[in-house]
Order: sequence, then structure tokens, then C-alpha cells
Amino acid sequence: MAVKPVLLTFVAHALAVAAAAMVLVWCIHFRGGFAWKGSNKTLIFNNHPVLMLIGFIIIGGEAAMAYKSLPLRKEVQKVVHLTLHAVALALGIVGIYAVFKFHDESHITNLYSLHSWFGLGIIVLYAIQWIFGFVMFFWPGGGKALKNDSRPWHVLFGTFLFTLAVGNSTLGFLEKLTFLEMSGVARHGSEAYLVNFTAIAAVLYGAFVLLTLVSSTDQVTAIDKP
Ligand code: HEM
Ligand code: HEM
Repeated sequence: MAVKPVLLTFVAHALAVAAAAMVLVWCIHFRGGFAWKGSNKTLIFNNHPVLMLIGFIIIGGEAAMAYKSLPLRKEVQKVVHLTLHAVALALGIVGIYAVFKFHDESHITNLYSLHSWFGLGIIVLYAIQWIFGFVMFFWPGGGKALKNDSRPWHVLFGTFLFTLAVGNSTLGFLEKLTFLEMSGVARHGSEAYLVNFTAIAAVLYGAFVLLTLVSSTDQVTAIDKP
């Protein structure tokens, strides 16, 4: 693609800031903030959307774009890529732990929704993808041929998982907003708009991450190549 990848990453970064700010305003201003212990269990839940959107999706997206967004040597980009993916995975696990904790302490059953089934599947596959990537491309590292053969699968599977995660976050926003609307939050109120716009910003961020990934760092197009 003719557009420089780094320009696409700037749009992605801006959308990430917008989505992160909106989810924080929602959870702090409208939902009362965060807690890990205490009698108000919904404050334990509030950790979940923030950790999943900022920790898992945004940091995971930045990790995926590292080869295109950072003007650094390939070896350095690789370390940033694997480190940011590890951070995203860790924050995603803590975010999921938070919602299990909220359910257990509020005597709500676990894993009853499509969102939760996809969510658990995504985090398990993400961990497998990370371990496989580490072993194949970093340490101890596969042979040259094996690396070349597995790279397209790594890129395809990683891109697929990131896309699923973005989609699944919209299911989460929809589910939580539906619960809130059933307990009195106005359907056309400012909170409802904020939650929907947060999900839209997350999807647009996902779109610009994907555009960055399909854009080529090679300024010579395939047609020009001999
Ligand atoms: C890709 C990101 C996300 C993943 C992987 C994920 C994963 C999960 C998982 C595994 C559960 C089940 C916990 C249990 O059964 O105890 C869950 C619950 C929940 N999540 Fe998410 N989540 C994500 C993003 C979000 C976001 C952004 C929201 C927005 C509010 C959200 C809202 C909810 C709600 C309301 C529940 C409780 C109801 C249910 O179990 O479906 N999630 N999530
Ligand atoms: C869940 C974790 C991971 C995900 C979702 C993921 C995803 C991706 C994606 C989407 C790309 C394409 C990047 C681009 O085209 O610019 C990629 C490339 C790559 N990743 Fe990962 N990755 C993960 C973990 C790892 C780990 C732990 C390593 C270990 C070093 C690694 C090494 C690589 C390498 C070598 C490339 C090829 C870069 C190139 O030559 O263009 N990845 N990964």
C-alpha cells in the first residue's frame, strides 16, 4: 500500500488515547472508580473493562505494530514486540481474574455468556501464540527454514486473535450497558452514548492497527519488483 505505515500508526495511537480516555471517564465518573476489596463489588468489576481495553487490546495492538511504528533495528523491534505482548497478556489475565473475583464475591455464576466463552478462548490462544512465538523466533529459535515457514502463520494467527479480541470487547460493552439499562440507566442518556462511542473508538483503533499491518514498509510496490 502506498500510505506510509508510520502515518497509519499515528492515527491508531490517537484513537487509542481517545478510547482509553473514554473507558476511564466511564468507569471513574459514571461507575464510581476501582477497588480490589470491599463491600461495593461493582468497583471490583470496573477493573475489567479498563484492563481489557487499555491493557490487553491497546497494548497488544501497539505490540503488533512495533515492526512498523518504531524506527529501530529489527532486533530491538522484536524485543519490544515480545515484551509488549507479554505485558498485554499479563494485564489481560489480571482483567479476567477481576471479573471472576467480582462474580464469586457477588454469588454470580461464571462463564454464562458468549462474551465470556470467546474471552477465555482468546486469552488461552494468546498465551499459546506468545509461547510459540518466543520459542520459534527468540529463544532457542527455530532453524531458518522453519522460521520462514512459520512466520506467515504467526502473523495470520496473531492478527486473527487481535481482531477477535476487539470484536469481543464490543460484546462486553453491549452486555454491561444492557445490564445497566435494565437497572435504570437511560437508553439515550450520556452514559449510554459514552459506552457506545468507546466501543466505536476501539473498533476504529482495531481497523487502523490492521491497516498498519497490511501496509508495506517496502516503498517499492510488488508490481515494480523484477
Ligand atoms: C478482549 C477483551 C475482553 C476479554 C478477553 C474478556 C473476557 C471475559 C471473560 C473470560 C469473562 C467471564 C468471567 C466469568 O465468567 O467470571 C468476562 C465477563 C464479562 N466481561 Fe469481559 N472481556 C473483555 C472485554 C470486556 C469489556 C471491554 C467489557 C466492557 C464492559 C466487558 C464486560 C464484561 C462483563 C459485563 C462480564 C460479566 C458477564 C459475563 O460473564 O459475560 N468485557 N469477560
Ligand atoms: C500473543 C503474542 C503475539 C502476537 C499476537 C503476535 C502477532 C504478530 C503480528 C500481527 C505480526 C505481524 C507484524 C507486521 O507485519 O508488522 C508479528 C510478527 C512477528 N512476530 Fe509476533 N506476535 C506475538 C508474539 C511474538 C513473540 C513472543 C515473538 C518472539 C520474538 C514474536 C516474533 C515475531 C516475528 C519475528 C515477526 C515477524 C516480523 C517480520 O519479519 O516482519 N511474536 N507477530
